[in-house]
Amino acid sequence: GESLKRHGRAQAHDIEHVHIVGAGVMGADIAIWAASKGFRVSLQDREPAILARAVKRAYGFFKSKLKDARAVQEAMDRFMPDLEGHGLKRADLVIEAIVEKVGPKQELFRALEQKVRPQALLASNTSSIPLEVIGESLQDPSRLVGLHFFNPVAKMQLVEIVRGARTSEAALARARAFTGAIERLPLDVKSSPGFLVNRILMPYLLEAVKLVEEGVGVTTVDQAATQFGMPMGPIELADTVGLDICLSVAEELSGPLQVEVPARLRELVAQGQLGRKSGRGFYAYDKHGRRLTP
Ligand code: NAI
Repeated sequence: GESLKRHGRAQAHDIEHVHIVGAGVMGADIAIWAASKGFRVSLQDREPAILARAVKRAYGFFKSKLKDARAVQEAMDRFMPDLEGHGLKRADLVIEAIVEKVGPKQELFRALEQKVRPQALLASNTSSIPLEVIGESLQDPSRLVGLHFFNPVAKMQLVEIVRGARTSEAALARARAFTGAIERLPLDVKSSPGFLVNRILMPYLLEAVKLVEEGVGVTTVDQAATQFGMPMGPIELADTVGLDICLSVAEELSGPLQVEVPARLRELVAQGQLGRKSGRGFYAYDKHGRRLTP
């Protein structure tokens, strides 16, 4: 509650209101996490149903994590679903978490820049698109940083702070301070293919998909990984990330990291089987996202 809030403000003294665009797997959870740590948050998506789902998820999270009904109510008051993007003009920090595609991201930042305060820090949660490319549509790309969260946000401590060729030191410092204020660990990385984590993770996930393509059972692959000590197998992890996101990231990184995009991944995405979020990917899931045995 109050002490967390003070703690947060002391470190990221100039950030009070965070606006997040895209309320999917990542945007919703980043918004919920930041609100639970005392920040005022507006969460924008063009799909009302997606915003409604995020509000429900926020309520469930606050109820399970915060100490009493008053703390839950205060967190809900700080958490604003925002269909039209009204929160933009009050934001000190804007985090973009929309589809992993260059065109839409550039278009969004071009439009954003017209609406935000001149001192607002701009951030992208991109997993694979070079920051310089996203920043091409900005008049001032020096205030754009990557804030790369991992899924699930509430469990994963690390946040990659991505420096583009034109990112300013001041922007990086504010991004680090914000990350600390929400009790996550900032890791500085350059805007290089896959940054640090996905450079290691993507080849691993794609090799696992290739094993499945070659006829090895999904549970065999996943059990080998969990017995080795991984918290989740690579196939279930791909489903959790979202197969469409995996495909976009794999395509973006296939050249620089010399990884092959498995045909199986393309097929599942073409069929609308996007993993946990769509109820079906390599595994099937119930409506709460719980895995049903294959
Ligand atoms: P998602 O597909 O779950 O959500 C994207 C949301 O953005 C959708 O709700 C969609 O309606 C909304 N949207 C799209 N265009 C919009 C626009 N112009 N204005 C407002 N809303 C818009 O995607 P997810 O998985 O949350 O990924 C978002 C970003 O985060 C991507 O850049 C991805 O690479 C990155 N990321 C994803 C991770 C994952 O595990 N899924 C992990 C780390 C980063």
